[in-house]
Amino acid sequence: MCGIVGYIGDRDSTPIILNGLKRLEYRGYDSAGVAVLDNGSIEIRRDAGKLSHLEALVNDTPLHGKIGIGHTRWATHGEPNIRNAHPHIGSTGEFVVVHNGIVENYLELREELVAEGTVFKSETDTETIVHLVEKFYASGSNLEEAVRQTLSHIRGAHGIVVMSSREPDKIVAARVGNAGGVVIGLGKGENFVASDLPAILEHTRKAIFLESHQMAVITKDDVRLMDIKGTPIAFTVQKIAWDPVAAEKGEYRHFMQKEIHEQVRSLTDTLAGRVDFDKGRVVLHELKLDVERAKKIKRIIITACGTAGHAGMVGKILLERIARIPTEVAIASEFRYADPLLDEDTVVLAISQSGETADTLAAMEEGRSKGAMLWSNVNAIGSQAMRIADGCISMQVGPEIGVASTKAFTAPLLDMYLLAVYLADLSGTISPEKRFELVSDLAGIPSLVGQCLDREPDVLRLAQKFKNMNHMLYLGRGINMPIAYEGALKLKEISYIHAEGYPAGEMKHGPIALIDRNMPVVALAPKDPWYDKMISQIEQAMARGGEVIAVATDGDTLIPDLTDNIFWVPETPWMLSPVITSIPLQLFAYHIASLLGLDVDQPRNLAKSVTVE
Ligand code: G6P
Repeated sequence: MCGIVGYIGDRDSTPIILNGLKRLEYRGYDSAGVAVLDNGSIEIRRDAGKLSHLEALVNDTPLHGKIGIGHTRWATHGEPNIRNAHPHIGSTGEFVVVHNGIVENYLELREELVAEGTVFKSETDTETIVHLVEKFYASGSNLEEAVRQTLSHIRGAHGIVVMSSREPDKIVAARVGNAGGVVIGLGKGENFVASDLPAILEHTRKAIFLESHQMAVITKDDVRLMDIKGTPIAFTVQKIAWDPVAAEKGEYRHFMQKEIHEQVRSLTDTLAGRVDFDKGRVVLHELKLDVERAKKIKRIIITACGTAGHAGMVGKILLERIARIPTEVAIASEFRYADPLLDEDTVVLAISQSGETADTLAAMEEGRSKGAMLWSNVNAIGSQAMRIADGCISMQVGPEIGVASTKAFTAPLLDMYLLAVYLADLSGTISPEKRFELVSDLAGIPSLVGQCLDREPDVLRLAQKFKNMNHMLYLGRGINMPIAYEGALKLKEISYIHAEGYPAGEMKHGPIALIDRNMPVVALAPKDPWYDKMISQIEQAMARGGEVIAVATDGDTLIPDLTDNIFWVPETPWMLSPVITSIPLQLFAYHIASLLGLDVDQPRNLAKSVTVE
């Protein structure tokens, strides 16, 4: 996860920035850099690897200045080396930028800029930003306008901080979508900017959080906010309690809400360093796999508990459709006692946020004792499930604190997709054209998730309408059937409303008897290959007097004729649609529980990590 820190004031900015970056160190990084304005010119130090490498470099060749910006990076485009480390500087050496997010149209922009004579120094998407700012500045804009014009040219979700020797009294920051936050810290005669509050909390407790599509111009004595069209915006300064846990919660009421909103960033980080969009390839180094081993795999058994199990159900479909490897999903608490038939050509793949769930670990041991290959897809670094596996895909979501899992659900959905493409490539079961198509479909996912998050007010309205129900039925088919299970699980976990997930085609074999006005039906009906079938399920439920809440794709004209209760989601390639359809259901459960005044982050009787049987 990338981190950003900036400073403007009378103190030396370098130690402030380095300390701030250290606070974000737990997120991990693969390079770091700092740029300061020293006597009217920009000085930069960058290094690959840990922050300590950058600190050593700064010790050897110090840099001083009263305004500066710094960054820790997780690679998305280009290798994690010095050339690709942030900050990125333009051709004239007068503009410098740090950035979180992905410039989705960077290839086109790069081509245009190269045709105009721009020479690129890195392989990053970020470098396009600094060249655009420079170009617009050269054509007569001031720094603020140049950043604004740049934002109107780049696609995707971004957190951006820019500094220039041409206007050495300010830093310009912007946030579009949810590629991490942008928070401004207010001091006396000095101000700070960061991607995350902990980076600046030792200096100030007064903070302004930028919303999506907002920009800030920060000088040492003043902060101005405007939307990205330039209209000034009044802002409220939040006082942050000196409580590291509360500080971590930032602008959100609950960790669950924060974690739901972190998904643009966590999914960006999930792709980081693993997906090469230019070559249309996925590489999962941590699996320690080669062509020979990949070709040996005859069967995969995904084992997991709870939410992780639902991610596994989506994984099964992806692994079978893309890699053509027969895959089963086994609930870990059952698998461990099932005396399963395993051999060395079978992979037992455990999915677990904590990596410490007792049943999942026991299922892995069962796999080990019967000679299967053992893989894990785990979030908690260093956990047992990571250590005992032969290969691992680590989730890139950072700590998840809310007991009800959200960002550690969508990340394994992408991880399974990446795994399927990787295995298909290694074993030669996919054409290069198909591989390119599948890989390029990934690029838009973080920003599509961002679009779903922007629709939170619509979800809140439906949460208000349905919060007093006692039962709900969630229906889905095909790749969205597991999302019906997961949506129902989220609701029951935190709101204590009875909810059941069901394969929609099975409704007529039982649950249909329950349907009436007091049992709303949540129907997942995005434009996927099961869409037509879902429409008839919705009609059947309505014919029984049921009230339907549909998840539908933007532009759908049939569903609005059937129901007014719709969670609209943007159009998405069907194999990735579960990532998108999950978002409104997470928000729906969250808002219902929150409106009911329940303890969202620590629901009764549940635990984040179940280390007992
Ligand atoms: C507990 C949590 C669930 C989680 C499950 C599996 O029941 O409350 O949210 O899905 O454990 O946890 P894991 O850490 O293995 O993903």
